Amino acid sequence: MQELNIPKHIGIIMDGNGRWAQARNMNRTSGHKEGAKAVRKAITHARETGIKVLTLYAFSTENWSRPAQEVNAIMDMVGRYLSAETETMVKNGIKMKLIGDKSRFSGSLLRTINESEEKTKDCKDMILNIALNYGGRHELIRAMQSIASLVKDGDILPGDINEELVEKHLDTYGSGDCDLIIRTGGEKRISNFLMWQGAYSELYFSDVLWPDFDNEEFDKAINFYSSRQRRFGGLK
Ligand code: IPE
Ligand code: IPE
Ligand code: MG
Repeated sequence: MQELNIPKHIGIIMDGNGRWAQARNMNRTSGHKEGAKAVRKAITHARETGIKVLTLYAFSTENWSRPAQEVNAIMDMVGRYLSAETETMVKNGIKMKLIGDKSRFSGSLLRTINESEEKTKDCKDMILNIALNYGGRHELIRAMQSIASLVKDGDILPGDINEELVEKHLDTYGSGDCDLIIRTGGEKRISNFLMWQGAYSELYFSDVLWPDFDNEEFDKAINFYSSRQRRFGGLK
């Protein structure tokens, strides 16, 4: 049997919680609750498979346009998840990093996030980026703002701006490019996820709704990746 070529960095657009709940006559929040269980499973499976970086899209900069009740439920859920899981992450060598704009979070959520990042900061087995209030464009705008300040202060010249410098100013600094983006829920779009890091990502779309995403589905995506030939603009 040919050896599997495992992606180093996987990003997941966890879509379909609402439809999962609707199909069961439940409210959307119940779908997100069920989705949180799938999150736990996916993190464990990624670590056991030897994935080095897992980036999970939990809430986009555009998701604020949903009803406040749903937004609050998702934010609460992330806070509760981190409070409950941080010790396990430390035990399992998982370094958690929140990517996204933290400025809109409540004080208590921010404290939970900071505490979880601090406690897991020396973990070495896997990086877990949780994308919350994340948008690829917004991340790039924030990077451009920091770089513009450097130019303004005379620390660098415009000509010094290169890929390496931009990467340093992204929330994902240290995680590298994303090798594989998985989207559940049937839609075939990126929805503002990893605009820079996903420039050469392989794309895997699954019709499975996120709460139903299990190890078998995850392995299908990894097998798909393994069979791809990446050329990065060159020839084979
Ligand atoms: C979860 O799926 C993704 C989040 C934005 C939290 P959705 O809530 O978008 O579910 P669908 O697409 O409405 O089914
Ligand atoms: C993408 O899902 C964002 C997350 C999974 C967090 P959406 O449901 O917000 O995306 P669209 O609206 O279908 O593009
Ligand atoms: Mg959706």
